[in-house]
Amino acid sequence: MTNTTHFGYQTVAEEEKVHKVAEVFHSVAAKYDVMNDLMSGGLHRIWKTFTIAQAGVRPGFKVLDIAGGTGDLAKAFAKQAGPSGEVWLTDINESMLRVGRDRLLNKGFTSPTLLCDAEKLPFPDNYFDRVTVAFGLRNMTHKEDALAEMRRVLKPGGKLLVLEFSKVWEPLQKPYDMYSFNVLPVLGKRIANDAESYRYLAESIRMHPDQETLKNMMQDAGLERVEYFNLTAGVAALHTGIKL
Ligand SMILES: C[S@@+](CC[C@H](N)C(=O)[O-])C[C@H]1O[C@@H](n2cnc3c(N)ncnc32)[C@H](O)[C@@H]1O
Repeated sequence: MTNTTHFGYQTVAEEEKVHKVAEVFHSVAAKYDVMNDLMSGGLHRIWKTFTIAQAGVRPGFKVLDIAGGTGDLAKAFAKQAGPSGEVWLTDINESMLRVGRDRLLNKGFTSPTLLCDAEKLPFPDNYFDRVTVAFGLRNMTHKEDALAEMRRVLKPGGKLLVLEFSKVWEPLQKPYDMYSFNVLPVLGKRIANDAESYRYLAESIRMHPDQETLKNMMQDAGLERVEYFNLTAGVAALHTGIKL
């Protein structure tokens, strides 16, 4: 029997989700950064700055950025880890990864970039000091497998940071829905010539586990001292956990 999952509000075969997510990111890659700034009014930069601060990367650290896309986090980590460090920019999508790799190179960072699936990471056990994933987990088909892989590649004492859209504070739900379902697809159409991908964005956010559910999933994956920080009234949340 075919296993099914969600692609936004649609129920689809697991394989189909993988293809549809790939189509979304091939389609938006070239306009991804400008759309992020427009859609969030620049807020994603503040959320990422907070995540980078919580990561506390020091010179010599080994860092894995999963679903790293256009490289915002990897760029900051490469600077902090310095020449003695090792910062990997990885993503399953070639179009996104190419934009990220070029951005890093343009800034003078020769960080390794690798096309790989978070659900099957090609790294040894106990290797990284930090593993990060920003706005990527939501798109993964088997989130539990991906979280287990993230834990596996962390060194004992290493930290996982998951930045993702989350459940917004209840009084803001209505205006947030209005914005997400009316404004985002129009912006997507105008700027990236793709309304559907931005409709998927709004739907996938609603289907993603809320703060407490994701915290439980991280604990079930074997992470300890799991906590989360609501950002902008829960529009996004940063979850962190340690491998002991
Ligand atoms: C919204 S973008 C986030 C990019 C970047 N981390 C950021 O915060 O700007 C989501 C990324 O997740 C990637 N992705 C989706 N499924 C993945 C998987 N199974 N493994 C690795 N990356 C995946 C997509 O290709 C896409 O580049």
